Amino acid sequence: MYIVAINGSPSGAKGCTGRLLAALIEGARESGAEVALFELYNLTVKPCTGCRTCQRVGTCIIEDDYPKIKAAMIAADGIVLGSPNYISSVSAQMKALFDRSFSMFHTQALHGKYGAGVIASGGPMCQPAEEYLMHVIGSIGCWKIGSVVTGGGVLDDPAQAPDVLKEARDLGTRLAEAISIRPRYPEQEEALEQSFEIMRWLVSEHKDIWPYEFEYWQKHWSST
Ligand SMILES: Cc1cc2nc3c(=O)[nH]c(=O)nc-3n(C[C@H](O)[C@H](O)[C@H](O)COP(=O)(O)O)c2cc1C
Repeated sequence: MYIVAINGSPSGAKGCTGRLLAALIEGARESGAEVALFELYNLTVKPCTGCRTCQRVGTCIIEDDYPKIKAAMIAADGIVLGSPNYISSVSAQMKALFDRSFSMFHTQALHGKYGAGVIASGGPMCQPAEEYLMHVIGSIGCWKIGSVVTGGGVLDDPAQAPDVLKEARDLGTRLAEAISIRPRYPEQEEALEQSFEIMRWLVSEHKDIWPYEFEYWQKHWSST
């Protein structure tokens, strides 16, 4: 059981996102998962240039750390995305990773894996960032196990920190358990199926200009 956790916070392990992720990872490891953590602040994932080479040939022309993160996500059973709330969304580092993963949305390369999200926020208005992060997890094809969100210095308050960290640890445990028993979630079926079928249609409509993506669908999802 292999989980890839990605920290999109420029504050790294010492930041609130990093501390929440550490608790989540602890819960997952206690339940038997092997977890690889990618800290985007000390990796290079440059912004997408929109050249669409990934759709034609399956690889990106930019030379940086993206290919190794992509390979880890494809090999994983579970994906954890963690980001600070930056202007009601994710950090630029995390958004760059999403954009570079464009072709994985089209090919639904992570379809059927299990995902969880972490958002650390300054204030309490963290819902747009959380909803966006979880939307990304769903639209790339993962079952959504849950999310943990903190706002307003909760992690620095000795009265509240243990509760939030426990919530994160429990989410890690639930993610690992889901991976081992592989449930389906009826309330998520329709949305997951919809993203999948929209991408199948889109890629098939553009098969002449996106040959890699079309061949990926033929090879991986033709029987579904
Ligand atoms: C560029 C930037 C944008 C931010 N935008 C918001 C925001 O829109 N809403 C909010 O509540 N907090 C915002 N914050 C505060 C962070 O979400 C908060 O400090 C968070 O805990 C940082 O996580 P970290 O410790 O992992 O870096 C912002 C902080 C920065 C640096």
